[in-house]
Amino acid sequence: MTAPEHPAIQPETLRPLLTRAAGRIDLQVLAECDSTNLQLQHRARSGAPAGTLLLTQHQTAGRGRRGRSWYQEGQSLAFSLLWRLPPSTNPSGLSLAVGVAVAEALGPQAQLKWPNDILCDGRKLAGILIESAGPHTYVIGIGINLGSLDGLPGELGHSAASVADAAPLEVLARVIDRLVEVLDSFAVHGFAAVHTRWQNRHAYQDLAVSLYAETDSPPLQGVCRGVDQNGSLLIETATCLQTIASGDVSLRLQ
Ligand code: BTN
Repeated sequence: MTAPEHPAIQPETLRPLLTRAAGRIDLQVLAECDSTNLQLQHRARSGAPAGTLLLTQHQTAGRGRRGRSWYQEGQSLAFSLLWRLPPSTNPSGLSLAVGVAVAEALGPQAQLKWPNDILCDGRKLAGILIESAGPHTYVIGIGINLGSLDGLPGELGHSAASVADAAPLEVLARVIDRLVEVLDSFAVHGFAAVHTRWQNRHAYQDLAVSLYAETDSPPLQGVCRGVDQNGSLLIETATCLQTIASGDVSLRLQ
C-alpha cells in the first residue's frame, strides 16, 4: 500500500474554507500515527478542547467498528474530531447524525446504511467510529475513501467506493462545516434533529434484509423500515415491528 499524502491540508489552508465551523476548529496534522482516534483520546484526557481536529497522512493501526482494522489508501482522509455535548443531550443516535453530515457533504450519491456506514452504489465510501473520551466527550473518527483505491487489499478493494477527482482539502472543509451544523442541532434536539435527513439517504429503505448478531443464532429477517427518533433500527418481520438499538450486529440485503 502507498502512503496517502495531503501536503495541501494545513491549519492555514483549511481556515479560509470553513463557514459554520469557522473559529471553532483547531486542526493538527500528523505525518503518521497509530490511530487518530487513539491519539485524540489521549489528548482529550489531558484537557484538549472541543474542536480539536487531528488528521494524519498515514495510520499504522487505523481502527474500524467491531474490532476491525481501517486501511487508508491513496488520497483518502483519516481524521478525528473532539466534541463535547451538553449533559442534558441524549447521545442516542450520535453516530447516525454524524453519518448524515458526512453523507450530505460527500454529495447526492452518498447513502446511509445503519448504523453509520456511508455507501455509494452499495460499496463503502466512508466509515465512522465514535469513542467516548470522558463524560459527555466524544472522539468522532471519520475515514473517507478518496481517489484511487488500487492499493487496498483484495476483499476490501472490491467492497470499497471512493470519491473520485475530489480535492482532499475541500472535502475535509465540507465535512467539518456540515458536521458542526449537525452537532449544534444534535446538542439541542438529539437525533430527532436529523431523523428525516437520515431517512432521505437510507440505502436499505423498504428492502428485505437479514440482521446477524455475533452469536450463531439464525438472522432476523424482515423488511427494513429505517430508524426511529432515537436512531434505533426498525425491521418489520412477519409478526411484528422489531426495534434494534445496538449497532453491534451485521445488516445485509437478502
Ligand atoms: C468503520 O469500521 O466503518 C469505521 C472506520 C473509522 C475509520 C476512522 S479513520 C480516522 C479514525 N481513526 C481511526 O483509527 N479510525 C477512525
